[in-house]
Amino acid sequence: MPVHLHPLSVDWDLETAEKGGYDDFMTKEINEQPDAIRSTLLDRRRRDGTITFDELRISDEELRDVKRVVIVAAGTSHHAGLVAKYAIERWARVSVEVDIASEYRYRDPIVEIGTLVIGISQSGETIDTIQAIREAKRRGARVVAVTNIVESSLARESDAVIYTRAGLEVSVASTKVFLAQVAALELLALRLAQLRDTVPASDVDAHFLGLNAVAAQVATVLTRRSSVEDVAKQLLGARDFFFLGRHVGFPTALEGALKLKELSYLHAEGYPAGELKHGPLALIEPGVVVVAVVTDPAMHEKMLSNLAEVKARGATVVAVATDDDESIAAIADYVLRVPATEPMFSPMVDVVPLQLFAYAMARGLGRNIDRPRNLAKTVTVE
Ligand code: G6P
Repeated sequence: MPVHLHPLSVDWDLETAEKGGYDDFMTKEINEQPDAIRSTLLDRRRRDGTITFDELRISDEELRDVKRVVIVAAGTSHHAGLVAKYAIERWARVSVEVDIASEYRYRDPIVEIGTLVIGISQSGETIDTIQAIREAKRRGARVVAVTNIVESSLARESDAVIYTRAGLEVSVASTKVFLAQVAALELLALRLAQLRDTVPASDVDAHFLGLNAVAAQVATVLTRRSSVEDVAKQLLGARDFFFLGRHVGFPTALEGALKLKELSYLHAEGYPAGELKHGPLALIEPGVVVVAVVTDPAMHEKMLSNLAEVKARGATVVAVATDDDESIAAIADYVLRVPATEPMFSPMVDVVPLQLFAYAMARGLGRNIDRPRNLAKTVTVE
């Protein structure tokens, strides 16, 4: 069968792909995070307050009538999907299921009328995510892609696309695209809320402003790199790490653990803090490090009581906490400070010290930052 190929121009060049004076691509990409968020949010709101996505080729009526959202993704993109679940359910009042792409396609998934599937993939080429959306389409779902690569397979095969405009990401461990994915998905959650009239217009406006404040908050965290490095230096001998969080702090913890394990090859697990008692607590002993995301005021007390439990068993505690949190110093051995942000947006801010921590640990252990062993940037085979 003849194959017709069409030339495709992309607006990235070789120079962009260079490290721009940084030691490695990861450092460059971490530093580009404020811009990644700003670009992703650019021109997404009309004067009348309506949130718009130029590339979203699904009608407003169809979006309004969505009965269920299913998110499929892998790796870091899956963690962005978990954050989106909290935002879409809270604001748009639609139930959201988040599935690992490689599980979705083999489990005879149910697709009813009104099911919207969101495939999230930085590369748009992850085989499991593409196969998952193909399966969903076969069963009649409408599919939205959230991807960083224009005209990627995922973009082409979906009914609609929201582009994260983070620019080229080279380092195997994803950083800036995670932030851009969360920004794009939270914006989509607000759009769904507008269409379904589930959040008052003034609140949508306030959330939009909150979302736009995140880039500057991330920039503030980036100025604190050396204090994160100091903590990492103290913990270079540690071998076991548990990352804990609640609400959107949970996917943040998962992402922090993933960064640490892929970059440093140390044992790191992410857990919802409430699950501590259902297993992980048995593993807590002196030498184990517990990294906790405690930035959400509504979850603060619960998180502190979890930390008291691990402290009592000898763990070393590192807390990601807001600048105004005075009580945390009494329980945490080390505190990574972040500016306070609207809790729903906090993963974009709170993950940054965790990225820097993973980076510093990996550097301290002499790992290859941009190319960790055994891993690939894009997994195109099963
Ligand atoms: C690989 C990469 C990860 C990435 C995952 C999903 O495992 O090393 O950084 O999160 O694939 O990739 P995608 O391109 O689909 O977001």
